[in-house]
Amino acid sequence: MDLATTLKGQTIRADVRDVGINPNHWYAIGWADQLQPGQVIQATVWQQAIAVYRDTEGALHALEDACPHKGVELHRGKVQGQRLACRYHGWEFDAEGRCVSVPYLPEGQKLPCAQARSYPIQEKYGLLWVFPGDAAIATDFQPPLMPEDAEPGWLKVSVTGHFNAHFSICNENSMDVFHGFLHENLQGWFDPLLLSLRETEDAVFAEYQVSYKGRMAKFLGLSERADQVTTLPITVQYRYPHYQSSLQGVSVLYLMRLPVSPVESRSFALFFFKVRLPQWLLKPLEPVLQVLLERFVLMRFLAQDIEMMESEQRQYLANPKRRYVEINPAIIAVQRLIVRQCERFTQSSSQTTMSGHKELDAAVHRSVAMQEVSTAGICLVDRTDST
Ligand code: FES
Ligand SMILES: [Fe+2]
Repeated sequence: MDLATTLKGQTIRADVRDVGINPNHWYAIGWADQLQPGQVIQATVWQQAIAVYRDTEGALHALEDACPHKGVELHRGKVQGQRLACRYHGWEFDAEGRCVSVPYLPEGQKLPCAQARSYPIQEKYGLLWVFPGDAAIATDFQPPLMPEDAEPGWLKVSVTGHFNAHFSICNENSMDVFHGFLHENLQGWFDPLLLSLRETEDAVFAEYQVSYKGRMAKFLGLSERADQVTTLPITVQYRYPHYQSSLQGVSVLYLMRLPVSPVESRSFALFFFKVRLPQWLLKPLEPVLQVLLERFVLMRFLAQDIEMMESEQRQYLANPKRRYVEINPAIIAVQRLIVRQCERFTQSSSQTTMSGHKELDAAVHRSVAMQEVSTAGICLVDRTDST
């Protein structure tokens, strides 16, 4: 559906700042090269702690980060072949999370019936992806497609972000091209215009027009001279739960959002820059260019954004009832999508639970649904006071 691009005041939704996630998507939880064979790390997807390990043969596994024996975090354990051994008593769990060995169990005695939840996990584009929702439908979904990853001529730069803010605040920042003012001293963009806006069940597409000028624009090949103004279209797509933005023929950004808790989020970004260098020269220069762009350009932009997002979060926590005004319809569309996705998951979970617990009264169920929507305890939103 096409939406109007007029900038006019609307009140920001009250429920968006503590809404939960739809876990039925692939979430990036870390960089693949930071998990070597035999290592185990902890990841948190919306308050759900997961122990992610790479077995000694290189295969990835993800288990609930709680030992079924006494709850000790499994990421403190040891990888033994294809299994993960809990640090405390050494119970071993296989890739499905089943307890397959208790080191002190007398021979011939039956293993306890103990199983940790396992999660679908995959490695793609140098990232580790976990599916925290219903494992039975994981193959119906895929991480975003990044064709530039396999095309020559693109310089790939990765950036990791950590935010003490709810993911809605972060997602709005990514959709909000009108904040070029913030990056003025870094010679960011200026004179933004919202050209078109479209919303579907799973995505928001916005097309803006922006202008660039300065040394940075010249460095990125946007203009021949630093004093020249270049005006280009930029597209921003929020395909729940991740972002993609593209500056015509110059750069593409894939921004993977990881909601950690109502007040913490992470991001894993992959930037692709079109460089005007022959491939034989680009290859040896790549490591230096990656570090330069990450440290001296991208991280500086990110630091400015983080300051704003965390300020916004603090203000929200100090006074959650206060209402704010937004004029960019793209942001309102992002908020609608975030709430809709959480509701979709909540409803599907409620239906599942309802069919299994017919005795539950429907009204009671509605009031608690947003609090305990799944056995995984993912979509945690308390809306009981917002009616
Ligand atoms: S707590 Fe994990 S083996 Fe005992
Ligand atoms: Fe920004």
